[in-house]
This record gives sequence, C-alpha cells and structure tokens, in this order.
Amino acid sequence: MQRWTLDTDLPNWQSTPQAEAVAEVLLSGNLAAIPTETVYGLAADATNGLACAKIFEAKGRPQFNPLISHLPSTEAALEHGAFSDKAIRLAKAFWPGPMTLVVPQRASSSISDLATAGLASVALRVPEGPVMRFLAEKTGRPLAAPSANRSGRISPTRAEDVIADLGPALGAIVDTGPCPVGIESTIVGLVDDQPLLLRPGGLAREDIEAVLGEQLEWAEGNGTENAPTAPGMLSSHYAPDAKLVMNATEASPADALLSFGPDPFPGAERAFSEINLSPSGNLAEAAANLFHAMRTLDSSGADVIRAQIIPNFGLGEAINDRLRRAAAPRGTG
Ligand code: TXA
Ligand code: MG
Repeated sequence: MQRWTLDTDLPNWQSTPQAEAVAEVLLSGNLAAIPTETVYGLAADATNGLACAKIFEAKGRPQFNPLISHLPSTEAALEHGAFSDKAIRLAKAFWPGPMTLVVPQRASSSISDLATAGLASVALRVPEGPVMRFLAEKTGRPLAAPSANRSGRISPTRAEDVIADLGPALGAIVDTGPCPVGIESTIVGLVDDQPLLLRPGGLAREDIEAVLGEQLEWAEGNGTENAPTAPGMLSSHYAPDAKLVMNATEASPADALLSFGPDPFPGAERAFSEINLSPSGNLAEAAANLFHAMRTLDSSGADVIRAQIIPNFGLGEAINDRLRRAAAPRGTG
C-alpha cells in the first residue's frame, strides 16, 4: 500500500512522486483512500465499473447503492449532470464544499452504471478537500467515493480509522490528518423542480434554503443507502459496538458519555468516560469531533454510550441524524 502523508498548507504539495503513485493506483482500477473536508473517501475511477465493484466488495455493502462522484470543478460536473437553474445557483454558492447534488445524468456522461446503480440520476460533488479535487484533475476521471468505512460502521475522519477498517483492500492512502468538517456532505436532490433534502450533512439546511429562497422538502430514503427498510423503521447505520442512547439527561455509572456544551451532564462524575463534542456549544466543532469521539468511546469498552441533547438546527440536524442511526435497532440494514 502506498501511503502519502502530506500537509496541503505547504507549497507544491502536488509535485511529489507519491502524487504520481496514487494517481497510478486509481488509473489502474484500484482503490485509494482519499481525504475530503467531510470524511475520508474510498475512491475509484467512476468510469470503470470493475473499479467501482471493488468499492462494494471492500465495504461489504449488501446492495449496490449509488455512489457520489467527485469532480475537480463545477465545469467538470456540468459534463455529467443536467443542472437546472436552482442546481447552478447551489453549485455557485457552495462548491467547492460539503454539498452533493443529485441531478439527471447526461447521456454523454462516462460515469459507470455501477456508480449510479443504474439510476437516471447521478450524485455529484466538488469537494473543498484539495487532495480529492487534485487527484480527479490529475487522473482526468470523476472519482466515485463513499465514506471509507466498512458498511454500517462509523465514517472515518482520520487515516488510522480507515486503515483499521479497510487496510488490506487499499492500493493507497493519503493522510492529511483529521477532516475539518467531520460529517458527510449534505445531499440535495434536484431531479424535479422541488428541491429535496436527501441527507442532512456538513452544510446546514438553512444556508441552502437561504440561497434557493424556498424550503427543502425532507425526503429521507429517496434512493439513499440510509433508506428505512420498512415504514417507520430506521436502518441501523454508523453502528458502534456499544448501545447508543441519545437525548440523555442523566448518566449511569458504567456509561461512556458523549456530552455537548457548557452544562454538566448530570451524573458525569460517576461515569466511565466522557468526551465533550464542544464545551462551548459550537455545532460545527461538535460535527468535526463526532465520529472520532464515537469510535474512541466505543473502544473504551463501555456497554452504553449516552449522548446529551444536541440542538436540532444548523449542523445539529446532521449530528442528530447520525446519532439516531447509531441508536437504531441493529440488523435492519
Ligand atoms: O461527504 C461525503 O459525501 C462522503 C465523502 C467521501 O465525499 N461520501 C459519502 O458517500 O458519504 P456515501 O456513498 O457514503 O453516500 C452517498 C449517498 C448514499 O446514501 C447514496 O445512496 C446517495 O448518496 N446517492 C447517490 N446517488 C444517488 C442518486 N442518484 N439518488 C439518490 N441518492 C443517491
Ligand atoms: Mg457512508
């Protein structure tokens, strides 16, 4: 496995032999773990069906869910998707950044059927993370990349987490340290005129609605991997080994606590361990810390992770969505 550790704040980080080697891994149809501002992605050449199949194999995904394709620029994204005026407005406002647009796929798009799961639509994203954009540009290929974790597990925000989950399947990994946003992109469906929120994520719903001048309709499960398997039933996802309880107001002695904000968690002094996602109550900071905190508390050996109430606005909507899935009954998805 090629491991490329780098600091993208340094000048000329692109011009190294490791950059060539990782691009070569992708062009030869193999998998590379690549960081973005949200989480680490398990990337493959989106135009190569066999390479995309390796993603499903490595993740142990039960079905072929559609994948997000990453592009170096909005211009490159326009080659693959038919963008309505609303889609163009969102792309202009938020790309590069933690937003994915699901739009009709162009007939001329080279993105493989395996990446779109045979749908007529395609999920496109221009990430802020410079390494993913750079490698998409360098290879000249859209890069299909789901989060680089085994299916149903907590998404990775650090290279060590990726290696723990997927090490042997990787041809390469690029390590730029922790992901600054820490929670996956917000997915907006713009196939019809009514914009849909398909997944809350690293860009707050309110920011998107302000640009559109209209509300996003909540459409959980419209073709996303997180679709409930039956009405009213949440599929388990982001599953820690410990049982997760959310909106907790009091701790029990053997608990691992996931706290938030300046108010003490009642009973915290008796708890087994505690991580505060943001002592000052900042939701962006909490999102950035969420997945690593869940992994750390889970490996502390506690049977129960108890999470304090997190406000449900801004990035809190995505944090609560992930906690709800982590708390859902297991074995449903
Ligand atoms: O932040 C992110 O979005 C990360 C990083 C690596 O970019 N990627 C990510 O990908 O979270 P993944 O595969 O874990 O999630 C992709 C989601 C899935 O729920 C999938 O079903 C949905 O996007 N999706 C993809 N294509 C779609 C389509 N045509 N219609 C509806 N949903 C789609
Ligand atoms: Mg995922």
